Amino acid sequence: MASNWHVAITARGERNGLVQAEAMALTGGTPDADGVAVCERIDRIDRAAYVHRGLRIILSTRTIDELRDAIAARASTIASDRFRIDVHDPERRSPLGRIEMAISLADALQEFPDLRDPLHHFLVIVGEHNLLFGEIEAESTASYRLHDSKPWTTSSSLDGRFSRALINLVPDARSILDPCCGAGSIVVEAASLGIEAFGVDWKPALAGMTRENLAHFGYPGTVVQADSRTHVQHADAIVTDLPYGHAINADEGIIRAILEQSAGLAPRAVFVAPANITTWLTDTGFTNVQVHTVMKRRGFTRWVHVAESTIF
Ligand SMILES: C[S@@+](CC[C@H](N)C(=O)[O-])C[C@H]1O[C@@H](n2cnc3c(N)ncnc32)[C@H](O)[C@@H]1O
Repeated sequence: MASNWHVAITARGERNGLVQAEAMALTGGTPDADGVAVCERIDRIDRAAYVHRGLRIILSTRTIDELRDAIAARASTIASDRFRIDVHDPERRSPLGRIEMAISLADALQEFPDLRDPLHHFLVIVGEHNLLFGEIEAESTASYRLHDSKPWTTSSSLDGRFSRALINLVPDARSILDPCCGAGSIVVEAASLGIEAFGVDWKPALAGMTRENLAHFGYPGTVVQADSRTHVQHADAIVTDLPYGHAINADEGIIRAILEQSAGLAPRAVFVAPANITTWLTDTGFTNVQVHTVMKRRGFTRWVHVAESTIF
């Protein structure tokens, strides 16, 4: 069967709800257990944290023999000079090894392979019921990795990949405010994507760390030392990791005040917390709250809330 549609390949996200949430926000597709998402678009995958690749699907068949025959029949219409074929088979369903499968399909193409520097990079996806053959047309640059070597981090700093995924939950935002920016992981990721980035922290040392981290990479951004219960800075979206120690309830008054202020500053927001704070959000001016959980080592779970302000 000939086809022309798109699929995204993601990390496998059993314990990480951000994988599905990011894939949906960036591509419009929901990954299955193999990390394969039939999707609407692949043009935003370059900025992804957990979506690895985007493919244009060329063929879909039931067996490897059918796939080889279908490729051979269409070889003159498949641009394949300097090609490479890889196989996505996380459940090891194929009786053939990955290299064996790639070689047998490569024989059906008309041009010569170039494994080191391919012009056309194909992927075979071995699904439960079928095989997909497509060309990789989008890949994450994984540029968030660069930011894990920033000069300043604290014990509560988020890593670059996690921060990037949070920003990708509001992919249309052209400006982002982190009202509790700490050492600036979220601010750095936003700025690196060309988003206008605003950071606020009430501790001068932390505001200073965010400024130095931005300067280290040469990214623009505005960082202010202020109390986010009262500070005003509007943006397209708020993305923040709320302050907490081990007992989130100890900070409830401060957090509720920050949420209340935030609802007046941006139409959409992403809040990370160590518990489900949906009721706090609906109490303080937010609605349509979606919650994604991310399980960390030693049983620690983070709750990621995506919400809309009722004020806008
Ligand atoms: C969980 S940490 C943020 C960590 C940050 N995402 C990072 O990667 O470094 C929360 C931050 O909120 C700040 N904070 C707490 N209450 C605040 C307030 N009322 N106004 C501004 N910042 C506040 C704390 O100083 C702390 O740096």
